[in-house]
Amino acid sequence: MSDALLALLAPGGVRSGEALAAALGLTRAAVWKQISALRKLGVEIEAVPGQGYRLVRPIELLDARAIESNLSDRARALITSFQVLRSVDSTNARLMAAPGPTPGQAAVCIAEYQTAGRGRRGRAWVAPLGAGLCMSVSWSFVTPPPQLGALGLAIGVGAAHALHSYGYSEVQLKWPNDLVARGAKLGGILTELQGEMDGPAHVVVGIGVNYELPPVARAAVAAEGNPRVTDLRELTEGVAPGRNEIAAALVSALVETLARFELTGFASFRSAWSTLDVLAGEDVVVRSGERTESGRACGVDQDGALMLEHDGLVRRVVAGEASVRRA
Ligand code: BTN
Repeated sequence: MSDALLALLAPGGVRSGEALAAALGLTRAAVWKQISALRKLGVEIEAVPGQGYRLVRPIELLDARAIESNLSDRARALITSFQVLRSVDSTNARLMAAPGPTPGQAAVCIAEYQTAGRGRRGRAWVAPLGAGLCMSVSWSFVTPPPQLGALGLAIGVGAAHALHSYGYSEVQLKWPNDLVARGAKLGGILTELQGEMDGPAHVVVGIGVNYELPPVARAAVAAEGNPRVTDLRELTEGVAPGRNEIAAALVSALVETLARFELTGFASFRSAWSTLDVLAGEDVVVRSGERTESGRACGVDQDGALMLEHDGLVRRVVAGEASVRRA
């Protein structure tokens, strides 16, 4: 990737082609090629006639030191491997391909850009460079807690609370694994597991949060099944804490949640989950492959299954894509 060019343009302001070429030790044609390459990654670069190039939106690039210095003490003590990459296929895939960390320790992978970001249910996770926060944490359970299937819900609680602490008090959770605000998707969680539900298990939890999606990216995100999307910038009317600060808060939340989940399973997260539940009391439809279940959402059980009430009967739904039925 054109790292040096990106670093020059990231803070904003116009840079002439000549100045960029001189700073990078490249010809102007080579600079132009790198500009095209960055555009392909979703970075919006404007050509200002007679002046040069500038980013439509300045980007605070991810910086390992800035993130590490903002981690909570508890998380820092548990993290033994910490990577911040400019580009990777998928942070989840990267950590799944590596051996699980020593039990009780966490491995972290954060990426500025994913070439093959994974969403739930086989979808892609779309985040142009600089527009999102994409990270994963790897953890090994010697004996997984009984409700390992609810880990993603617990991670949602940790992530939502981390965002609340930055003033994003509107953030709620949509069963099973979405972060939502103002009726739109802000982020998602993907939990992947290697091993047995009742034997040693290596899990990777990944989270993607929209930070500042350019308008063109919204269409691509919508094409992945999320017609309404929002981002942190939109929720705070154009001002948001820096990406490194939020990344540190999310990593800390993920690591701390994994450590707590190991001790308590879902039990210590369930009531917090209920207070964040955006579907509670709503008439919902849950689709899973060919199967469709509908009813009034009445929370989750101790395993994280969605409880649907219909004609006085309550049924549990363990997986699927939930949507609110509008009258
Ligand atoms: C979803 O809502 O579909 C879940 C999205 C999860 C996306 C994150 S981004 C970081 C991590 N790496 C991936 O490839 N996916 C998760």
